[in-house]
Amino acid sequence: MTTQARPDVKARSFGENLESDLALEFLRVVENAAIASAHTMGQGERKLSDHVATEAMRQTMDTVPMRGTIVIGEGERDEAPMLYIGEKVGAEFPDGRDVPEVDIAVDPLEGTNLCATGSPGSITVLAASEKGGLLNAPDCYMEKIVVGPSCKGAVDLDAPPADNLKNIAKRMGRDVEDLVVIVLDRPRHEKLIAEIRAAGARIKLIGDGDLSAGIASAVIGTGVHAVMGSGGAPEGVITAAAIRCLNGYMLGRLVIDKPELEQRIARMGIKDGKKIYEAEDLAPGKQLIFAATGVTEGALMKGVRFFGEGTRTSSVIMTLKTGKVRFIESIHLEKGPDVKVRFM
Ligand code: FBP
Repeated sequence: MTTQARPDVKARSFGENLESDLALEFLRVVENAAIASAHTMGQGERKLSDHVATEAMRQTMDTVPMRGTIVIGEGERDEAPMLYIGEKVGAEFPDGRDVPEVDIAVDPLEGTNLCATGSPGSITVLAASEKGGLLNAPDCYMEKIVVGPSCKGAVDLDAPPADNLKNIAKRMGRDVEDLVVIVLDRPRHEKLIAEIRAAGARIKLIGDGDLSAGIASAVIGTGVHAVMGSGGAPEGVITAAAIRCLNGYMLGRLVIDKPELEQRIARMGIKDGKKIYEAEDLAPGKQLIFAATGVTEGALMKGVRFFGEGTRTSSVIMTLKTGKVRFIESIHLEKGPDVKVRFM
């Protein structure tokens, strides 16, 4: 059979739709990082776990046809050898075809301690957008509230937790006592925890990983209704990309508590250190890709499973413009020709 090009249909060039062209490429990136770090699970070596995830992420990114720039990464160039802010990643096509320009925010292993201790909730994760679509946040804390789609506009970073909880409960058609709020278990959250308890809501204290907690709070059925408290600002930007894809709601404010940080945000072009950001400010891209793979068991994704003949990974890939949320279970068969595939 011969095929003829239809004169009325123009072939679109690669990168015209960044989301469709790169989503599955970024899936490979987070999957490979998760497999690498999962081999170190429970070994008590958080730096090693992070290092192997970063290396695998970096290597895989260099096989993706794109001109990528790391805008949120492992730190500045002199403190991070790989995936540092400003680093260029990606590959060109051999025939010189155009590749898209992409900004990328990575957290090669979110929850390094969780992986090192084999505890639930560690993931490999990234967000990508067209140029300028992700805020270049400094590596400081960010006060955050993350909630699901039904609670848009119902919370206020300056309101007492009891008021926010009352509003969340009302929007969700339940009592405050029915809510589950995730808070990072840190001394700085003592007052917040006491106030949430006094309001009557239930709390799930986590050792690490407010990014995956934030995503869970925007997905119905996870049993999580809000995340409150301060965590990393870079994690906040990546959370915001997911929250936009999930139609959730998020507020964030940088915690600028040292003169060095004031100078740093000024150098980064951030004029108002007290600004309250919504997800649209943190991840303003028109096209956004969010990709994450579970390293250890989590609310949305299973951890990496090795079964002798292969490896199984659970991931989520979301895109904003094309409106897709994909939960992907992959079986990696690279271990040999005799591998058997089992359904789920
Ligand atoms: P790592 O991935 O570097 O281990 O960070 C995990 C994390 O718990 C984040 O989820 C959170 O935003 C941040 O650290 C909180 O920072 P701190 O541990 O200083 O409270």
